[in-house]
This record gives sequence, structure tokens and C-alpha cells, in this order.
Amino acid sequence: MSDTARLQIGENSYEFPLVKGTENEVAINIKTLRTATNGVITIDPGYKNTGSCESAITFLDGEKGILRYRGYSIEELAEKADFLEVAFALIFGELPTKEQLEKFHKDIKSNSVVDDDIKKIVDAFPKSAHPMGILSSLTSALTAFNPSSVNVDSEEDMYNAIVKIMGKFPVLVAWTMRKKQGLPLNYGSKSLGYVENIMKMMFEQPNEDYEIDTVVKDALDKLLILHADHEQNCSTSTVRIAGSSHAGLFASLSAGISALWGPLHGGANQAVLEMLEAIKEDGGDTKKYMAKAKDKNDPFRLMGFGHRVYKNFDPRAKIIKVAADEVLNNLGIQDPILAIAKDLEQEALNDPYFVERKLYPNVDFYSGIIYRAMGIPVEMFTVMFALGRLPGWIAQWKEMRLNHEPIGRPRQIYIGENLRPFKSIENR
Ligand code: CMC
Repeated sequence: MSDTARLQIGENSYEFPLVKGTENEVAINIKTLRTATNGVITIDPGYKNTGSCESAITFLDGEKGILRYRGYSIEELAEKADFLEVAFALIFGELPTKEQLEKFHKDIKSNSVVDDDIKKIVDAFPKSAHPMGILSSLTSALTAFNPSSVNVDSEEDMYNAIVKIMGKFPVLVAWTMRKKQGLPLNYGSKSLGYVENIMKMMFEQPNEDYEIDTVVKDALDKLLILHADHEQNCSTSTVRIAGSSHAGLFASLSAGISALWGPLHGGANQAVLEMLEAIKEDGGDTKKYMAKAKDKNDPFRLMGFGHRVYKNFDPRAKIIKVAADEVLNNLGIQDPILAIAKDLEQEALNDPYFVERKLYPNVDFYSGIIYRAMGIPVEMFTVMFALGRLPGWIAQWKEMRLNHEPIGRPRQIYIGENLRPFKSIENR
């Protein structure tokens, strides 16, 4: 293959270099397009064909259903690694040695207290507030309580900011849930592992000792790993673009949490469970909902189906489907909506509408069923996604800053009114 691309506009021809990734992905580098062509730009709604950066963190092949973090397959990581190891690999590039992991965990633990005044902010939210709104606000508030800006060129500064947020974010997640449940805002224990500590902070009741259920712990570890990064998705792109103005890490993360909230992105896990419940309440007629999803006059979409990049299957969904069966069996829970979900999946896999559009179950289709079995309220599902995605967002923000990427600032094609004279209010 030639290493340039030729573009013809009218009489003029322009040449642009091709960029090749380590997995042979190819892009046309149009950095000089506007200058060379005297003002022509590209337009690509939803950035379906636009690469925003070169990145060494996550590789995703949507056609083949491949997902790898730092070169390691998601299947192997989900089976063999724990969440903190995966977080370390995403953020620092390599799986940690035993010593590195211990130090990372120790530093996180010594940063896992948040300013007590944050409790006042939590208190001020109405109980009806959506947990994602609370989490985004509290993450932003962390900036106010930790105002020193990070000198990204100092490895030490960068490391300190990372262990700070890795320590404090789970506390905010737990408090967000406890606020909704009217439980005291507590802390975990330094003697526990990272994920065990999260569970204690979330689930411990004020009047009983908390015992870790290993089935729940293993499932949570797996879910967090599966959500840990997904290259340039909506929330990650938001984190990178907010950070590209040199906004701090916590402020950029808060922006990412808001982007994740939407039902077309992370909010889909809540939407899936609500959809499955609605189908159950409506008598379990999956065919009726399949027909609604295909009807172009009906805004209903089959939540948890389809993906911008995966056009074969979502490898995370495969792992989560097996995990859902295991967790429910091990906890002795029979959830009728699991059967509804499986029926919907079977019907969709055999339906020309879904087959032609390459719509398969995505990561959110089965995850909510596991979260519910763990005792996590539906409104908290997207918060759990955010908890898992934290290391990915950090890694992407760090990479963007260390690569000294320019501020993200797309252009537009203006389609509004041309210059016209001002009309005084009496004449409008
Ligand atoms: N149900 C019914 N039809 C669908 C669905 C669905 N879930 N998803 C896509 N389609 C149709 C869509 O109507 C369009 O049909 P047509 O070509 O006739 O106009 C075609 O499939 C292509 O869809 P699109 O909206 O152009 O695709 P996209 O890449 O812009 O959107 C998506 C991807 C994930 C936003 C979309 O599939 C969707 O809304 N899915 C449901 C929400 C969901 O589960 N989101 C979680 C995504 S995975 C977790 C994450 O990373 O956030």
C-alpha cells in the first residue's frame, strides 16, 4: 500500500501522509488540509470516521470482536487479573510487579480519606437526586478541596494525583449510594484489598459486621475490569477534550462522568434493567418489544443492543453473560428478567433487522442483572460503570497531557443567516 492518500478538489490535487498503527490500522493525516486547500475542512457527524489521537492504551477491533488493554486480551485479564493490577497496567503501561502493586495499593490507601466537609455537600442533595449527578458534582468538588494544580511534567506530581483519585473516588461512589439509602457515610478499612474495601464501604450496615462474599467480590472485580477502558468512546473523549484545555484531572473526570450518564452510553445499563422490568410487567411479550425496536415511528430502542464500533459481537458481553449465570446460580437467585434477556438476545440474533445492522448485545445488556443480584440499586448501575472506567479515563488523560496534545477544538460549517441589519424591537 502507498503511504500517501490523494485528494482531488476540482482541478487541484493534494497529497496527505498515511499513519499506520501497530495493528495495521490506517488513517489519513489531514493536519495540513485546511492550510493546503485554503479553507476546506472535513465534516464527520458523530466522528464515525475520525481518529482524534494516536494511543497506546487500548486496542479494539470491532469487526473481529477484539478488545485488549496494553496488548493483553480482555478474556485473559478478566480470568486471571484483579482490577487494581489492570488499573496499574492501563495507567502505567505494564502489569505491575508484586512490589509495584503493593506500593501502588499502599499509596492509594493513604489517600483514601476525603475532606469531612464533603459530607455537607452530600447532605445538601435531595434524596431524589440521581447518583450520577451527585458523583459528577462530588468529583468536581474534589478540585476545590485539592486545589494544587498538577505539574504534568513532574512524574511525582502526576503519580500523586493518580493515587489521590484512585483512593478518594470509591469513597465518593459509596457515599453516593449510602446517601440514597439513608445510611451513615462511612469509610472502609486499610486491611482490605481494593475491591473488598469498595464493597465494605458500599454495603456495610451500621449494626452488623460486614463479611465479604467471595462470589460477589469475584464478579465485581470482573465487571470493573471489563469496564476499565474502551479507547476513544464518548466519555473518554470528553475527559481528553476537557483536559486538553489543561483543566485538571478531577475536573476532566467530572466532565467524563456527565458524558457517561446518558442512556446511549453508560446510562444504558440502567435503561436495560428498566426495559427488562417493563417487559416483565407487560406480561413478558418479548416479540412486542422487538417489533417496537424495529418500528421507525417508535422511538423505542432495544437498550443494551448495538455498538458504534463492535459490528460482530462485544467480547465483554460474552464474558458478562457467563458471569451472570454463575453469580445468580452461586447466590441462589432466580431472576425472571435473565430469561427475558436471553429470549430477547435469541430473537435479535435471528432477526434480519438486527442481523443486517450488525446489532449484538453490548456490555450493558447483562451487567445490570449481576449488579442487581449483588444488591446494588438500579440507579447506581452507571456509577458502577464510572468506578470501573476510572483507570481508563486516568490513563487517557495522562497520555493526552504527556503527548502535549493541542487543545481539542473542532471546526464547523456554518449554515445560519448571512449578514443582515439589526431590527429595532418595534419592527420585529
Ligand atoms: N435498537 C434498535 N435499533 C437500533 C439499535 C437498538 N438498540 N441500535 C442501533 N439501531 C439501528 C438504528 O436505528 C439504525 O438503523 P437505520 O440504519 O435503519 O437508521 C442502525 O441500527 C445504526 O444505528 P446508529 O444509531 O446509527 O448507530 P450508532 O453507532 O450511531 O449508535 C449506539 C450506537 C450504541 C448509540 C446504538 O446502537 C444504541 O442506541 N444502542 C442502545 C443504547 C446502548 O445500549 N448503549 C450502550 C452502548 S455500549 C456501552 C458503552 O460503551 O457506552
